[in-house]
Order: sequence, then structure tokens, then C-alpha cells
Amino acid sequence: MEATPEARTEVSLERTLEELLAVERFEPPAGFTRRRHIEADQAAADADPEGFWADAARDLLTWETPFTQVLDDSNPPFYTWFADGTLNLSVNCLDRHVAAGRGERVAFHWRGEEGERRDVTYARLLADTQAFANGLRQLGVQAGDVVGIFLPMIPEVAVAMLACARIGAVHNVVFGGFAPSAVAERMAVSEAKVLVTVDGARRKGKRAEVKAAVDAELGELPALAHIVVVRGPGEHPGVVPMTAGRDVWYDELLAAAEPDCPAVALPAEHPLFILYSSGSTAKPKGILHTTAGYLLGATYTHRMVFDIDADTDVYWCSADVGWITGHSYIVYGPLSNGATSVMYEGAPDYPDRDIWWRIIEEYRVTVFYTAPTAIRTCIKWGPEFPGRHDLSSLRVLGTVGEPINPKAWLWYHLVIGGGRCPIVDTWWQTETGSVLISPLAGVTATKPGSATRPLPGISPALFAEDGKPLTEGTGILVITRPWPSMLRTLYKDDERFVETYFSRFGPSTYVVGDAARLDADGYFWIIGRIDDVINVSGHRLSTAEVESAIVAHEAVAEAAVVAEPDEQTGQAIVAFVTLAGERIGDAEVEAQLRDHVARRIGKLARPRRIIWADDLPKTRSGKIMRRLLRDVAAGRELGDVTTLRDPAVMAVIADRVRGAR
Ligand code: PRX
Repeated sequence: MEATPEARTEVSLERTLEELLAVERFEPPAGFTRRRHIEADQAAADADPEGFWADAARDLLTWETPFTQVLDDSNPPFYTWFADGTLNLSVNCLDRHVAAGRGERVAFHWRGEEGERRDVTYARLLADTQAFANGLRQLGVQAGDVVGIFLPMIPEVAVAMLACARIGAVHNVVFGGFAPSAVAERMAVSEAKVLVTVDGARRKGKRAEVKAAVDAELGELPALAHIVVVRGPGEHPGVVPMTAGRDVWYDELLAAAEPDCPAVALPAEHPLFILYSSGSTAKPKGILHTTAGYLLGATYTHRMVFDIDADTDVYWCSADVGWITGHSYIVYGPLSNGATSVMYEGAPDYPDRDIWWRIIEEYRVTVFYTAPTAIRTCIKWGPEFPGRHDLSSLRVLGTVGEPINPKAWLWYHLVIGGGRCPIVDTWWQTETGSVLISPLAGVTATKPGSATRPLPGISPALFAEDGKPLTEGTGILVITRPWPSMLRTLYKDDERFVETYFSRFGPSTYVVGDAARLDADGYFWIIGRIDDVINVSGHRLSTAEVESAIVAHEAVAEAAVVAEPDEQTGQAIVAFVTLAGERIGDAEVEAQLRDHVARRIGKLARPRRIIWADDLPKTRSGKIMRRLLRDVAAGRELGDVTTLRDPAVMAVIADRVRGAR
């Protein structure tokens, strides 16, 4: 029988992928302009890292009062950068571009999930930002107050963030995929004064009544004085509950507000935002970033890593604004550089699995930044979806969030990049504020699966368990010098900040929480987390957070959560659950528990597998041995069980796992 043309292409793609797996190193293509610039930066940073950052800060940012101090390291690990300088971040992202005659340049090509298009220019963004900043002031928001933001991917999310920055309010964005109860928790712990949210959001044609759901979870929050409600795109059939005196419509607030809002010159170290991220306990960490250092990191890395030319590039980062990737590489980096971006509201498979590639073709996107998990999903769907579109505008591809396996890297390179686009595998974290280890497009030779080398001014190292530096091999990843965009503390919890990142090797060594390998060329290969953090589709979740959500269900006595490898999502959650009253679970309880976790944290935290356990493996001191649970979930031989209080427990669990497979 004759193979179809599609089947033939797939066979030859498979063959090419197999052949390319043998290639260890891809030389940078010619035609990229940054090479000389980067060599100069690298030399300057090697000779004098602080001087390098000071020059970059003068060169890339617009200051109200120039700084004279650079790094202050007199009170480690509480570092400050450029502390006596003042500036306003929204001026850097908006006013300076408009003043230079680029007001009509598109900041965001917004694309709605039903195909709607809205082009938001820099001038429009500045006008809305000023009006909303005045609106926030009218609601009583002052510099230093916290403003919560829970919005879908619509331009108003950028307006809300920039309006906060304009008046020195501290934003606290919550990822739109999180459950309303997570929003309530984050508003409570940050003592937010105002929450900006939406009437309803749509996802793949379905509508969620966001405002009503948030209202139902908020409870008594003494600090929260107002809720601003944006009218989201699409139909609005539902009745939106509005509490008189507390709730206001965004468009009405904007229409009534004064149009001009002169920017406030803020100290470089003024807090800019809090972003909650998962740590090794159930309580999320409020990672705090400040103004100038953060903006410098986002601006410099966006420009250099992706080789951005703001006059010609159309850039698209497919992340959600609710993650750090969205903060730094949808909002602050691109806007500070005056670039034109795509902002897309919807899912990658709605209305069809080719929507991303359709958007790239339509807007002639040149630089595309996504996550390995998304690439793996596209591989599963097949090359025919990108194959329907002209992707020849692309010139740089990026990935972030988790290690990328060489095969996915090569598929991205061939099928999306047409074999011509350099791939930048960017390693960083919520805490680091901006990319720290990554190839530079068109400059660095890449090796599939490696984040390659540190950027200029960044000093990563590998330590052995005892703190000895390693020149090659596998170890604990640390950063040995402060950098401008590093977190400054955990919100209102200095002690946890020091304990989490600086207790292991002292106050001048930032402990990342990842293990890595360093090869003979000085290339870093990130292995993964060494703490109780699980990485599901590039999203961080803590085992403790998921466990405490499960245990909060009335039927549950105890739970332990571990990660298992997953082809699609990188890692997946397996929960071992003991029910109250010696019950053994069934499909109904399982569905209830998964639903319960979705409501308490969000859908991405739902365990993929639930294993019913009569008891959990505990040491004599009562500590759960997750290592054994990881082994049993992966079907590996169990190690030593003699330190368990009751060694028989594991045999029962192993039987159940076998039965569940
Ligand atoms: O384990 C690393 C992984 O994601 C963690 C940071 O997660 P988060 O703060 O949510 O930020 C994600 C987006 C910046 C890291 O500790 N990680 C991130 N990027 C990579 C990565 N692992 C391997 N390769 C990467 N490029």
C-alpha cells in the first residue's frame, strides 16, 4: 500500500531527528548583530561586574535622579542596587517611547480566542495607564499599598501593572488559572487594598463567572477596600454581583478619571511587585522585586538573549502574565525595549490545534518564546498543524520553565524553526527576576538540552554537598555574587528569605534549589529541583501545598504527594492517600478529591494518580519517607525499608500500585 504524503513526511522527519540526535553542538548562524556587543559586555563584566551593571543601568534605563551608588553589600543577603537613584518604571516602559515619536507603534497585537483583534499602541497604553493610575488613587491607593490583579490575558492586565508602577503601588498578580480560593489567600496574606479582576473569562468557548466566584471565596478581608471589575471580551450573559461602595467597573473608573497622571519619581529600591511562588512548605512564598534592578535585568536580557530589534521584530511569549515569565517577558522587558509583541488570550488548541502557527503567520512573528511542555504537546499532535502555515518569519526561538529533552529541542528546531533559527534555552526563576543562564541568539553555540553559559555579570557555580566548588560534574547550583534583578526578600518574612536561600552556604551564596551538571566546555545542564517542589508543565507546585489541600477534604486522614516523570508535562503528581475510618477509596472519591484540589489550588495541581494507602511509610520519628513513595510510583525496586516504623506498609502500597497500573 502507498504511504500518504503526510505519513511519508513523518517518516523522514523521524529519520532526520534520529540523525540529528548525534549532533552535539550547533554553531550559531550568521547574520546576528549582537556578537561584538556581547563580547565587549562579557569582557567588561569579567573585569568589573558592578561597573558593567552600572554602565548598563545608565545606558538602558531613563533616570529621574542619576545614581551614585551601585551595589551595597554591607548587609548580606539584603543587597541593594543603585539605591540613591530615582526613576519611574512606567516612564521607562511608555513615556520615553512616546516622547521619542514612537507613540503609534503597536505595543500589543492582542488576539482574542474567538479571533478578535485589537492593536494597542504605546500612546494608548500610556493614556490608559495614566487614567487608571488616577482611578486607583481615587480609590485610596497610595505608594507602598498592595493591589491584587486577577485577570485573563487581556491588555488591561498590562495597564493595571503599569498603573501601579506609576504611583508606586505594589502589584500582586495571581495566575488566571488559579482557583478563586488561592486569590483570596493571596489577597489576605499580602493585605491587598484593591483587587482588579474581571466579570467573566472564557476558555475554549466556555465561560467562567470569575467575579461571582471570587466574591464567594473572599470572606472578611479587612484591608480590601475595593474591587475593580474589568468587562472581559465576549458575551456577558451572567449577572455580575457588585457590592455598593466596594465594587466599581473599570471602564467607569477610567472614564471619570483625570487623563494626566504625572509619574512619581521613586527610589530605585522601591518595591515593584510581589509574586507568590511555591516553596517547600504549604505556605506560598511572596517573592518581592524592586524597581530599578528588576527592570534592568528584564530589559537587558530581553534585548540580548533574543537579539531584539524593536524597530523590526514582532515578538511573542506564549506564557501567562500571572507567572514571572509573563511579568518579565510579556510586560516589562518588551515594553522597556519599545518592542511590538503579540498577546494571545486563548488556548493552543482552540478553535484548532494550529492556532499558534496561524497567529505567527498572520502577524509575521519573528521571535517566539514558549515552554518545553507546549512543544511536547505539539509533537504529540503532529507536524501537520504547523505544516499548514508559513512560519518563515521566525528567526529566534526560546524555551523556559523546565529542562528540554534533546528530541523536543530538535523537533522545535526543525519543524518550527525550519532548521535556521537559534534556540535559546533560558534558565531562571521567579526569584532571579530575569534570565541568568542562556545562550544568546546568534552568538552562543548551542547543545540541545543545555542552557549553556551564564549571561555577562552573572556568576553561577556548582557546589558539592560540602560546599566545595566543582569545575565539572554534577552538583548543587548556586550564584556566588548578587545581581540587580534578584529578589530582595520574601514579603514580610525576612527570616524565611534568609533560611530558604542563604542558610546553606552563607549569606553571599544564593542557593537556587536546582541540581545541575557542568561539562568540560563550561556549559550548564539543569537537572531539576532538589527540594520538595514539583514542576508540572513548567509550573511550580509544592508537595506540601498539594498535600494540605488533599488533607482538607473531610474524607481524608492523611496524604503524601510525590512527582513521577511524565512525557508530556515533565513531572506529574502522584498522591498516596489514607482515608478516614479505614475506608478504601473508589472512583467516586478519587473524582471528588481531584475536583477538590482543583477548587483549592487550581486544575494544574490535580493529582494524576491517587493510590489508596492504609498507612504511609514513616520513620520512627514520624517523618514520611517520600523517597520510597517515589520509587514505588516509578515501579522501581524498593530500597532499604528497615528504618520504617512499620516495614509492612510498603508491601501493601506496592500491591495497590501494581493493581492500579
Ligand atoms: O527548576 C528550574 C526550572 O524552573 C524553576 C523555576 O520555576 P519558576 O520560579 O516558576 O520560574 C519558571 C520560569 C522562569 C527552576 O528552579 N527551570 C526554569 N527554566 C529552566 C528550568 N529548568 C531547566 N531549564 C530551564 N531552561
